[in-house]
Amino acid sequence: MTTVEEEKALAARYALERIPSDARIVGLGSGSTVEAFVRELRRSDLSKRLRFVPTSSQIEEAALRAGLELVDIDHVETVDFTVDGADEIDPNLNLLKGGGGALTREKVLAVNSDVYVIIADHRKLVRSLCSTHALPVEVLRYGRTHVARLIAEAVNGIPELRLTRFGIPFTTDNGNYVLDVTMPEPLEDPEATLTQLKLIPGVVEVGLFVGLADEAYVAEGREVRVISS
Ligand code: A5P
Repeated sequence: MTTVEEEKALAARYALERIPSDARIVGLGSGSTVEAFVRELRRSDLSKRLRFVPTSSQIEEAALRAGLELVDIDHVETVDFTVDGADEIDPNLNLLKGGGGALTREKVLAVNSDVYVIIADHRKLVRSLCSTHALPVEVLRYGRTHVARLIAEAVNGIPELRLTRFGIPFTTDNGNYVLDVTMPEPLEDPEATLTQLKLIPGVVEVGLFVGLADEAYVAEGREVRVISS
């Protein structure tokens, strides 16, 4: 039987083989599946001719441990290929992200990458987003109780402030908070929900990635299923 960790490694290897031969700058999303990708890179000669743009302190530390050369996103003109994870993937290749709180930087990188691919184990596939996870929304600290109320009114959801295991508010790498919004039902129209939430002042970013991914490589047992946009 293939374990989830083996599936993550399989999807990671698949993505590694798809880095274009002329790529120079590769973006790194965040989370445990991207860490699996970093481990594969460490074993590959490919990493010697590439420089990497990280999206979080978590993946930056993993990349440095692996000996990868990092570059600031503002010091490159273009990112050739980005590999990211996801919490949920729907059949239209829309994503729910933000389990690790890196959603804003991940979205900035996604829209500024020539190619944006997702790697995942089989558990991430869902029929509709918000089926298995609450929706992460990064918000300013200022006025966050009022922002939470406006979010609840806009989408009829229940926002909860994300806490660390020490019971204090989780702070993103951008110094903001995250509200995890339990939606009343899985999303029929993720784009509409995204638009409603983005209009609320104090909302920094929403963990819905609609129409951004080019492909997803989803490991199911020993096979990799490719989902294309
Ligand atoms: C980080 O904020 C997230 O968007 C991750 O990409 C997502 O939570 C997937 O993480 P795992 O690969 O650990 O499941």
